[in-house]
Amino acid sequence: MKNFTFWNPTKLIFGKAQLEQLKTEIPQYGKKVLLVYGGGSIRRSGLYDKVTSLLQEVGAEVFELSGVEPNPRISTARKGVEICKREGIEFLLAVGGGSVIDCTKLIAAGSKYDGDAWDLVVKKAVAMEALPFGTVLTLAATGSEMNSGSVITNWETNEKHGWGSPVTFPKFSILDPVNTFTVPRNQTIYGIVDMMSHILEHYFHLEENTDFQDRMCESLLTTVMDTAPKLLADLENYQHRATILYSGTMALNGILNMGYRGDWATHNLEHAVSAVYDIPHGGGLAILFPHWMEHNLHVKPERFKQLAVRVFGVDAAGKTAEEAGLEGIRKLREFWDRIEAPSRLADYEIDDTKLDLMADRAMANGEFGNFTKLNRDDVLAIYEASL
Ligand code: NZQ
Ligand code: ZN
Repeated sequence: MKNFTFWNPTKLIFGKAQLEQLKTEIPQYGKKVLLVYGGGSIRRSGLYDKVTSLLQEVGAEVFELSGVEPNPRISTARKGVEICKREGIEFLLAVGGGSVIDCTKLIAAGSKYDGDAWDLVVKKAVAMEALPFGTVLTLAATGSEMNSGSVITNWETNEKHGWGSPVTFPKFSILDPVNTFTVPRNQTIYGIVDMMSHILEHYFHLEENTDFQDRMCESLLTTVMDTAPKLLADLENYQHRATILYSGTMALNGILNMGYRGDWATHNLEHAVSAVYDIPHGGGLAILFPHWMEHNLHVKPERFKQLAVRVFGVDAAGKTAEEAGLEGIRKLREFWDRIEAPSRLADYEIDDTKLDLMADRAMANGEFGNFTKLNRDDVLAIYEASL
């Protein structure tokens, strides 16, 4: 285990009817509020009306940025920055999924930066300051509600990059499982795959003496896999929505990965695919992760075997670590098939015509991955296996 400092300043407000807490949170930060949301799900669910009436109650002056896209775009974040600078916005409230929250993070930091917000995403500049912001989460998936990361797409250049800064943690996040009841089945599945993938990204590292961290990861994976089929059979079940919502936050808020750094290559592979084809992040991960695993099984087979035995119930007796590990990978694939996650790039009508462009995007910063480095040949091999 490496030395570490754990610091996460986001106040997590979880449970039924917690939206009311906006009334005590918002006035701490100012009167001029930019409400940021997506393509309309919060209007259809009635959450928009509830949020705006609470904002009215506390006398906030409300400005709006709607239409944040899934895979949020730099063009939309720029619009938000423009509103904040022009109107002197004091606080931002993101109401939506990871895309709305990620876009809000860039608006918050971009509003305190003199140049173009894209500079922060491509790390040409570092965010030193940001407007304060809070979130009302409506979709369990990314963990963005309790981390400082943000992922932004630039359609002019076909680039999708993650960035983040200590100044881009939400001040608070309100998580009411009821607000996730309306998430459609496919988005629910993508969210489940995404949070499982975050745990798996953590899991593949070369650090020693992480037994407690391993057990936490395994326990969270088992919990998600236990709950997912029950939730998919009953999408408005409060208890199952709550378990999945809490799991998504815990999978990527820094709790699981103290003292080591996970791999994260599969996320880079997926971001390159969605930068070219605009597919849902969780869908891309469901296709790519098992292939990344098979490709890298040889790096540390014992690690794959441990996962196979402890999470997927593989009986390792009489098997080599590779054999047991491979059986675990197959069981992961079977689980994702069972919950009807996509399994091939062809499911999104992606063929081999743009493999080179995707590989270029994945290789933009050179070889990548912390468990093992992927070069261009590795990247192409994983994409080809995923077709
Ligand atoms: O736009 P609206 O109308 O709100 O609809 C959204 C969107 O179409 C809909 N939705 C959200 N909540 C709903 C709902 N529909 C009905 N009822 C609700 N309660 O779901 C669709 C997808 O939303 P989106 O926010 O795009 O999904 P998600 O939360 O999975 O976010 C994906 C984005 O996050 C990035 C991904 O790359 C992708 O751009 N990630 C961010 C991370 C982070 N900040 O830490 C880490 C992740 O690994 C990931 O890369
Ligand atoms: Zn993810």
